[in-house]
Amino acid sequence: MRPSKRLDGCGYKTGLEADLPAGEEVAPGGFVVSNSMYTDYADEYEAAIQENIFNGKFERPSLLGLLPALNGKQVLDLGCGPGVYAAELVARGAIVTGIDVSEKMIEITRSKMGDACRCYVQDISIGLPDEPSEQFDIVICPLVIHYLADLNRLFSDVHRVLKAGGLFVFSTHHPYPDFERSPSANYFATEAVVEEWDTLGRPVPVTFYRRPISAIANAIAEAQMFIANISEGKVSKALKQASPELYSRLSTSPHFMFYQCKPLRGLPESPVGQS
Ligand SMILES: C[S@@+](CC[C@H](N)C(=O)[O-])C[C@H]1O[C@@H](n2cnc3c(N)ncnc32)[C@H](O)[C@@H]1O
Repeated sequence: MRPSKRLDGCGYKTGLEADLPAGEEVAPGGFVVSNSMYTDYADEYEAAIQENIFNGKFERPSLLGLLPALNGKQVLDLGCGPGVYAAELVARGAIVTGIDVSEKMIEITRSKMGDACRCYVQDISIGLPDEPSEQFDIVICPLVIHYLADLNRLFSDVHRVLKAGGLFVFSTHHPYPDFERSPSANYFATEAVVEEWDTLGRPVPVTFYRRPISAIANAIAEAQMFIANISEGKVSKALKQASPELYSRLSTSPHFMFYQCKPLRGLPESPVGQS
């Protein structure tokens, strides 16, 4: 165990590190990380992320800024959590499906959204077996892929369920600060990290996976998608007003990464390599 001083996407890391995920179960897609933050404390989590700095004033506005107009669009929200994104997507006119592994999160989303959002419990590390192909205009997956040991099944199914010309937008921890947390000190390893976050105003242990940037880029390419845009997040005036200190930090230190990807299907063949 080593003490941590780094700020995390969901709060201050007070820090423990471990080689193996806590509360793990073996699933077809690999290890499923079960975090009490998203099960036992799901109600508190929902309240905490509405207006906090990292989710409410940094991650969510940054990711929403990468989406096109949503009116009438079919949108799949992977790892939808307590439906904060889903509510915003519906308010923008989207037809939303939400999936989360946490029963409690889906219960919260259902109780808030009713018929306005179709949502169900499923582990997305096994892919999207209940979704037909070429159904969605947009798939989002905010702050979830770092809970998956393997990205290939999910990304391959994201490609399958997207319409030609569709968009896959996801956010995750930035690999640069995550490397400070590496138990192996090997940047190129994909490995579990356990830390304590103060998202709920007290330390709560959270297990996630850190991986090199090439692991993400290769999973995108293997799924027959390409990266149309990468962002490291946008700080705003609202964030500055809420916390000048975090505004300064997030303006100068990387924290999250945002990927905008598109399926290669339906595009004209690349002329690269042709004479
Ligand atoms: C940090 S929260 C983000 C929630 C939501 N996307 C947001 O940004 O407001 C991570 C969510 O991913 C979900 N999750 C983690 N692993 C998952 C898996 N294997 N399948 C589906 N959902 C998962 C958790 O239950 C939790 O609700």
